[in-house]
Amino acid sequence: MSMPSEKPVEKLTRVDASQELQRLATEIALHDRHYYNEDRPAISDAAYDALRRRNLAIEARFPDLVRADSPSVRVGAKPSEKFAKVVHDVPMLSLDNAFSDGDVGDFIVRVRRFLALKDGDALIVTAEPKIDGLSATLRYENGVLVQAATRGDGSEGEDITANVRTIRDIPLRLYGEAPDLLEVRGEIYMSHREFASLNARQERDGKQIYANPRNSAAGSVRQLDPAITASRALNFFAYAWGAISRLPAHTQWDMLQAFKSYGFRVNPLIERCKTVEEVLAFYRKIEGRRAGLGYDIDGVVYKIDDLALQGRLGFVSRSPRWAIAHKFPAEQAETILTDIEIQVGRTGKLTPVAKLKPVTVGGVVVQNATLHNEDEIVRKDVRVGDTVVVQRAGDVIPQIVRVILERRPKGAKPYKFPEKCPVCNSHAVREVDEKTGRIDVDRRCTGGLICPAQAVERLKHFVSRDAFDIEGFGGTYIETLYQAGLLKEPADIFALTRKPDTLGRVLADKRTEQGVQRRALAGKEATKKAPRKGEDGEGKLVGNLVAAIEMRRAVPLDRFINALGIRHVGETTARLIARNYRTVEAWLEAMRAKDAVEDLDAIEGIGLTVAEAIRDFFEEPHNRKALDRLLKEVDVMPVKAPAKTSPVSGQTVVFTGSLEKMTRAEAKARAESLGAKVSSSVSKKTDLVVAGPGAGSKLADAQKFGVKVIDEDAWLKLAGG
Ligand code: IVH
Repeated sequence: MSMPSEKPVEKLTRVDASQELQRLATEIALHDRHYYNEDRPAISDAAYDALRRRNLAIEARFPDLVRADSPSVRVGAKPSEKFAKVVHDVPMLSLDNAFSDGDVGDFIVRVRRFLALKDGDALIVTAEPKIDGLSATLRYENGVLVQAATRGDGSEGEDITANVRTIRDIPLRLYGEAPDLLEVRGEIYMSHREFASLNARQERDGKQIYANPRNSAAGSVRQLDPAITASRALNFFAYAWGAISRLPAHTQWDMLQAFKSYGFRVNPLIERCKTVEEVLAFYRKIEGRRAGLGYDIDGVVYKIDDLALQGRLGFVSRSPRWAIAHKFPAEQAETILTDIEIQVGRTGKLTPVAKLKPVTVGGVVVQNATLHNEDEIVRKDVRVGDTVVVQRAGDVIPQIVRVILERRPKGAKPYKFPEKCPVCNSHAVREVDEKTGRIDVDRRCTGGLICPAQAVERLKHFVSRDAFDIEGFGGTYIETLYQAGLLKEPADIFALTRKPDTLGRVLADKRTEQGVQRRALAGKEATKKAPRKGEDGEGKLVGNLVAAIEMRRAVPLDRFINALGIRHVGETTARLIARNYRTVEAWLEAMRAKDAVEDLDAIEGIGLTVAEAIRDFFEEPHNRKALDRLLKEVDVMPVKAPAKTSPVSGQTVVFTGSLEKMTRAEAKARAESLGAKVSSSVSKKTDLVVAGPGAGSKLADAQKFGVKVIDEDAWLKLAGG
């Protein structure tokens, strides 16, 4: 490596400067790597500082030559107003969980069966610590970091490029022969030591105290000012990838070795295992070392090592079939259960919630815990006044593990679950499943449309982040406007924009009422003065609300479907439906058709229960009316066609007879990943039948309807397998 040029900065020409900046970027990155990744500095601190100062001085003279990978960008970039959204080319998935040795055994059995492996066939699995931080994706083009994003909802995250540039573990420029396009994924985390010192600094400065290292890593990355991120030491482990122009290896293990050679940190504890026993031994070893690692992990992750096998295994809705997270037991604490409250959700479900004497569990104060349902209360025999063990794991709602019976107060009575809705007083019943004859675990309010709790919850869901995402339109507004009779169904939200005066009056009344209550509570005499109309505060508030509503008149189809709050249809299912039908017109037309249930059932990831729930929704005249009204207010945007097009995308395929080169599950998954719908019966809507030996009635049906029939080899050719 050459020494810094002796030519004074003032004497550099533009061309000199540009060359110098390139050289300095390379050189400083190399020294960063020696220092941070290998703990082995190659030059003195003074020499290193001189390089950085020279880089800064040249940039000050030629500001337009500042490079995307400049070392100076690591700190002090200009704060942005808000995080821009980034659509992930390859979705960022989550992992399925295993909680016991048995679950892990099942995972291996499932994989072996899916791949039709024989008893003697080897199956190598990598075992990795599961880092408890926040996942990020880093996009490199021609070796230079061009974009970094959070996971977000898996399909769309936030642009955190400026902040990520300040993280020393993350190379701004890659070493060696990295693919031209490479998205490296991994976890940003904060060490225990940095967490403790950050909280001490925050406390000293009277600022926010973070609950745990994960929150504080997330809080540090989501700072609008990258200088703040830079002042907090964050770390990064690489463990996966997204879009990539060329695979540098054929196994998970070798991919991680490649990442290491490009300049990333890869967790040093990762191992390759050949049997379930080895996998479980790894789990126990890591569990034993957990407390001493210096950073939080919440389990271990097992991944099928061979990438070709990963490809065959594919995905189920939001997680890969080729990986699983084996979680460590959650953290627990004891406290007293002071009450059981019943909440009514948007589908009328009555959920019992345990009110607890506040207690700290794993660094977070817990006051509520879910009791799930009636049977759960009976099974655990939870009573008001009991001392209970509470547990929380990661982000999940805290749970009651068990009651400490020895400490039960005398006279504590078994809990009697209400048989009427606590909000509308309608009967609350447990439905019987027609097919199985089983009683549903949940008790539901039968009040339907007359139950204010359900209506309010549905509206809250409608405006929520994953649905219409109307900013600032929170639960209290919805409750107030609902009580005032201004809001009954989704379309009414948009109608509000045409009545700003009424809206202002209702909100002002509410504020006065709260003021009266507050003063009454404080023991002061209530003032009966009417609110002054048109007060500045209200005017601005109404203006903001109206603007926020107007902003959301155009909504993507998947959010629109999710917003309807159809039973069993959440974010993931809504996205599957939207991708399948693309436009709201196409979807509604299909839902009005006789075979709507079959049509939905043919979509990968959607089962009969969901399909029937959607049919039920459309059969209800009130829903159809509400939908029509809503469509007059909003503009539903079509979803983009999936990036991949294949000869079978959009087609309905049926497999029949026996397949010899792949399992049935594999064939189905492959077809679906190519954008085809797989159906189990042949109709005139079927595009293609793949028939193996022994095909019977379905083959006959295909001939009857004139559907194209091919054999397994022809299918493999078509599917590129
Ligand atoms: S692999 C397609 N490996 O766990 C699978 N994830 O619960 C991508 N995580 O969102 C994830 N350590 O934030 C993987 N060694 C590891 C991990 C890991 C932590 C996180 C990651 C992911 C979450 C899933």
